[in-house]
Amino acid sequence: MKDHNPQTMGQQFGRRSWAEPWKIKMVEPLRMISREERDEALQEAGYNTFLLRSEDVYIDLLTDSGTSAMSDRQWAGIMLGDEAYAGSRNFYHLEEAVQNYYGYRYLVPTHQGRGAEHLISQALIKQGQLVPGNMYFTTTRLHQELAGGTFVDVIIAEAHDPNSQHPFKGNVDLAKLEALIKREGAENIAYISLAGTVNMAGGQPVGMANLRALRELCDRYSIRIYLDATRMVENAFFIQEREKGYANTPIAEILKEFCSYTDGAWMSAKKDNLVNIGGWLAVNHEDVFAKTRNMVVIYEGLHTYGGMAGRDMEALAIGISESVKDDHAKARVGQVRYLGELLSDWGIPIVQPVGGHAIFLDARQIYAHIPQDRFPAQTLAAELYLDSGIRSMERGIVSAGRDPKTGDHRYPALELVRLTIPRRVYTQAHMDVVAEAVKAIYDNREEVKGLSMVYEPEYLRFFQARFEPLS
Ligand code: F0G
Repeated sequence: MKDHNPQTMGQQFGRRSWAEPWKIKMVEPLRMISREERDEALQEAGYNTFLLRSEDVYIDLLTDSGTSAMSDRQWAGIMLGDEAYAGSRNFYHLEEAVQNYYGYRYLVPTHQGRGAEHLISQALIKQGQLVPGNMYFTTTRLHQELAGGTFVDVIIAEAHDPNSQHPFKGNVDLAKLEALIKREGAENIAYISLAGTVNMAGGQPVGMANLRALRELCDRYSIRIYLDATRMVENAFFIQEREKGYANTPIAEILKEFCSYTDGAWMSAKKDNLVNIGGWLAVNHEDVFAKTRNMVVIYEGLHTYGGMAGRDMEALAIGISESVKDDHAKARVGQVRYLGELLSDWGIPIVQPVGGHAIFLDARQIYAHIPQDRFPAQTLAAELYLDSGIRSMERGIVSAGRDPKTGDHRYPALELVRLTIPRRVYTQAHMDVVAEAVKAIYDNREEVKGLSMVYEPEYLRFFQARFEPLS
């Protein structure tokens, strides 16, 4: 693995580094507030990084969602916004971009990913049906549950092991899925909810061979596959890098082949597609299109804007074409990997192999002395902010929420903190600063005791829950 890292390759004598395929035209100043001010800000935020004000944050690694830097071409596209209520020119550009690069027939625009999740879940899930998928995502699963479905995790076991070096930890366990289909009956499965890459597993990819086999299995039982394409470009990068036969295939081609084995996709365009807001649903079956296009006018907006301004759709259409370029994807994942290698070299436990959009610190290992119901990952995110003004996100027991049937916490195997890297925003020097801050927290790990939850909202509690430190 290490030999494939362009960054470390560049540091060896006689080798050449790659660099980002862009230069900086405009900058946004950063400031770091004092330790006392950070302490105060964190208390005010109830020890939840979602509740911090952005101006109190130095390096913001909360999410890669909507935080990308747009290109000069995208900004030029903003000026070409056609803000007609119906039939905006920019909608047709977007439709063409999705058809060209993802290959689906019909497009329904939405305000962001969860708008598309809402439409597809309501359109396809009947009360009591199961929705098998390769690990849950918070908003995706909630929409499936609200539509009357139950998500069933059929990801391979390696995905739950932060130390497994499996190259495609996002793969579906086909035997597990087939056993489920046989036990429950194909008619009780709404569809397969497949994500590439798998966010909650650490940004881990799905292999092409696994998807081809999944398609075959689903064809035998007449089950459809819908793809969460949010970070599918990054997934395509890993296929090019790791899967036999794809080393010389452009990322754009890999992406299109992958999508061709699925029946449609929902998209948070705020990630791969390099825009600050937007989303879409794209499908191949006309009946699903008719149903979701009818629903979009209730919940999002007319079917030619779906909650986006014309200018947003133009920036998105251009963003799609930029996102599938090989040099972009290589620099994107390369930067994430650079940070991962610094941390691994210092022996800090992170999810391996490093995924596409983030480093996931293994809080279960780092704070081995803090029980899971004292929220080790939440604690780690708070400590990191306190030390250096870096904002990260809990992806553990708080994010997993409660089981709707029993009301108990769900105890996920992975108790992680995500350091999510925005696209085209930070430099290698920022990555060095982050790595050194994590090291400082790691060295001080014995001193920390955990948190108790003092306020818990009903849905997606991680966004708004409040905590207090245990002494
Ligand atoms: N699917 C995946 C895999 C996601 O990561 C997200 C959002 C969504 C769907 C929902 O899309 O935010 O546009 O409504 N993930 C963000 C994150 C919030 O930080 O990982 P959305």
